[in-house]
Amino acid sequence: MLSNPAPDSLTHIMSSTERPSELPPAQIADLQQRARAVAEHAYAPYSKFRVGAALLLTDGTIVTGCNVENASYRLTTCAEQAAIATAVSLHGPGIRIRAVAIANLNAAASEPCGACRQTIHEFSTPDTIVFYPSAFGVIAETTIAKLLPAAFVLENS
Ligand code: THU
Repeated sequence: MLSNPAPDSLTHIMSSTERPSELPPAQIADLQQRARAVAEHAYAPYSKFRVGAALLLTDGTIVTGCNVENASYRLTTCAEQAAIATAVSLHGPGIRIRAVAIANLNAAASEPCGACRQTIHEFSTPDTIVFYPSAFGVIAETTIAKLLPAAFVLENS
């Protein structure tokens, strides 16, 4: 069982056998704390749904991002996409994501949306781990391969 780093309603109940990652619990807790912290910066006046994402890159670097909404709604940037755009901006096009933790401040389940899954996949490895708030306050742990088993990949001939 993971220790619970959340100060509020999020509770970890996964056993170690349910966790595919080899990440130390303290590192997972740190990523989740960073995701919650950056969610405080979210610009979400329309949905009031504040999301944060913390990326652990394969070189150990951590980069965070939050959702940024827009009055036109469809121009909203999700937290995961903001984090990835920042990671590429800061560290270049060669980044690879070891793990991503997603959090929201609404005590709600929030799996990464389809667009975010494709965006994470773009910079993923076969083992990229995704932590997200699922039902009943449980932090779910899975892989991008399971979340998006048929990702679009551009095959140029
Ligand atoms: N949102 C994210 O930031 N990530 C997701 O994967 C799903 C949705 C944001 C977008 C919008 O600002 C708010 O959550 C409600 O949909």
